[in-house]
Amino acid sequence: MGFSFLEWILLALVAWATWIAAARAAGGDASARGVRTTVGVTVLIGFLGAAGWTYARGARIQHFTEVRAAVPSQGRPGGYVSSDACQSCHPGEYQSWHRTFHRTMTQYASPESVLGDFNEVKLEWRGERYRMFRRDGEFWAEMPDPDEAAPGLRVDAAGRLIPSTATHHRVESRIGLLTGSHHMQIYWTAYAKGNRQRIFPFAWLKEDHRWAPVDATFLRDPTLPSANQSWNANCISCHATAGQPRPDSRSDQYATRTAELGISCEACHGPGEEHIRRYSSPLARYLAHGSKPADTGMTYPPHLDRVKSSQACGQCHGIKWIPASENYQENGFSFRPGADLQTSTPIVQPSKIAEAKWLQDAVRNSPKFLEEHYWSDGEVRVSGREYNGMIDSPCYQRGDLTCFSCHSLHKSDPDDQLAAHREGNEACLQCHSKMRDQVPAHTHHGRAIFFL
Ligand code: HEC
Ligand code: HEC
Ligand code: HEC
Ligand code: HEC
Ligand code: HEC
Ligand code: HEC
Repeated sequence: MGFSFLEWILLALVAWATWIAAARAAGGDASARGVRTTVGVTVLIGFLGAAGWTYARGARIQHFTEVRAAVPSQGRPGGYVSSDACQSCHPGEYQSWHRTFHRTMTQYASPESVLGDFNEVKLEWRGERYRMFRRDGEFWAEMPDPDEAAPGLRVDAAGRLIPSTATHHRVESRIGLLTGSHHMQIYWTAYAKGNRQRIFPFAWLKEDHRWAPVDATFLRDPTLPSANQSWNANCISCHATAGQPRPDSRSDQYATRTAELGISCEACHGPGEEHIRRYSSPLARYLAHGSKPADTGMTYPPHLDRVKSSQACGQCHGIKWIPASENYQENGFSFRPGADLQTSTPIVQPSKIAEAKWLQDAVRNSPKFLEEHYWSDGEVRVSGREYNGMIDSPCYQRGDLTCFSCHSLHKSDPDDQLAAHREGNEACLQCHSKMRDQVPAHTHHGRAIFFL
């Protein structure tokens, strides 16, 4: 923090008094003039140094405030307190979560979080040039002005898609936000529209250690022009904890906020404010440890019923329908772990279309929706939507299969987060034990492995 006006006055008074005192002590001879000059110069240098330091610090704070204002913020109402508030009482769970890719799903760009190579790298895509570079610990791209026109393909007079040849005005954009940390990383630059984020056209592939066009990392029609994705509108729903997009429809400005950018404690356990209040006294904590409390105010997903337990994961690992009544853009989702997902944002299952009138209406309005998200037999074809697949299986429909039959969120390797003894055939043999001796005969593979 810089000095206030009053503090400056006080400092000036102290300096003036010091100077007078030095002058008095030295008397009127020649050496006294030397002392006076030395003290005067020292005070002046001190002043200039302090003023310069204050100015630089002020500028840094202002810069930081500007950078933060351009990206979605953390902290929102609704009883969310963030993972920091859980650490002191649950250090073990905090630590096991801290290692996961859930935590690093969405992060502010920083030298710690950015994996991609920004050391003067030049790339081309669809006739446009991009240059990535670093400046003062920040990550930047020099590129065609995305506000002028979408770079990429154009439709020619005959209606064919051709590479754009337009020369755009060029701009420098700061990377403010990023997505992913396990297999790849996608980057976002700010629009001049509140904290709305626009996708940067290249993704960093972690294993390959190289850049690739984002368009080429998703299963999509290669002849389509680049999709102008916005984090706030398209990705926040699954890539942050309890996000609220909050667009202003008149100005197209966004004031997006989240409980936390990564997928953190409260995404799976529900908001924690009330829980922490309940256990803030050591006596309440002591009593809770003695007798396993029936209700702690937090959701423990594996203890919920067969349907609701996996819904705590299905809220993100599934394709949901968002009815207008949710008022999702303003509030975010009303679903909290422990509730029934189907009543707020039902899962889109083509196999159940005959029973779901809302889905028939929706498909009439967006005829390509099913085709873009499912194979023709109704199996989901978008990655990361495991819940859709699971609830269509006989093991779920006629048995007790949940995500926790195979996954543990705290006692597991961050890569795939599988519970102990759930790798390979054991994941299935825990229920299909009769198959144990028949695996090679059943699969027609000598070394029988269900998961390759
Ligand atoms: C002041 C201490 C304290 C803080 C802070 C705290 N908890 Fe707890 N938590 C407890 C106690 C006490 C219990 C019950 C006894 C136990 O399981 O150790 C508990 C139990 C839990 C359970 C098990 C619930 C169940 O029904 O089995 C979960 C999940 C949980 N806490 C999550 C959180 C999350 C998430 C946060 C942060 C938002 C948090 N806690 C913050 C003290 C705390
Ligand atoms: C319906 C929920 C949902 C939405 C919406 C969503 N994602 Fe994802 N995304 C996931 C899940 C779940 C995974 C993990 C997939 C897996 O490991 O199979 C994932 C994984 C990813 C990864 C890989 C991360 C890594 O660490 O390797 C990237 C990159 C990604 N998503 C980008 C996006 C972008 C960009 C958008 C918006 C245009 C988006 N996603 C929208 C649920 C979603
Ligand atoms: C992606 C979902 C998810 C996230 C994120 C998550 N948890 Fe959990 N948590 C679970 C599940 C599921 C369990 C049940 C045990 C398991 O799977 O390892 C659990 C168990 C717990 C327990 C009970 C431990 C016990 O067995 O008594 C506590 C306490 C807890 N979590 C706290 C936290 C805290 C604190 C954070 C954040 C720092 C957090 N969790 C993040 C899903 C999650
Ligand atoms: C708020 C949304 C959200 C919730 C809730 C959530 N996940 Fe995820 N999960 C994601 C996203 C996004 C990723 C991609 C993270 C990455 O790999 O970078 C992911 C990744 C994973 C992975 C792959 C980890 C890896 O990178 O190898 C597993 C396994 C997983 N989730 C299981 C679960 C289970 C089980 C639950 C329920 C307890 C759950 N998730 C709850 C959004 C969520
Ligand atoms: C939590 C227990 C559980 C787990 C784990 C489980 N299943 Fe199942 N599975 C069931 C139940 C219950 C049925 C229905 C059996 C019935 O109706 O007779 C079933 C049915 C099936 C069927 C259909 C059989 C038929 O005749 O219709 C197949 C195939 C199957 N499971 C494969 C798998 C595979 C592969 C895995 C591992 C990825 C697996 N299951 C894991 C419980 C489970
Ligand atoms: C019958 C066991 C089983 C069940 C049930 C199960 N999973 Fe998995 N899951 C696995 C295994 C095994 C892997 C690792 C696959 C691999 O190595 O390719 C995995 C991998 C994943 C991944 C990482 C995928 C990737 O692309 O890296 C995600 C995400 C995931 N599971 C989420 C879920 C969610 C959410 C549920 C519940 C809706 C669920 N799983 C239910 C066994 C299961």
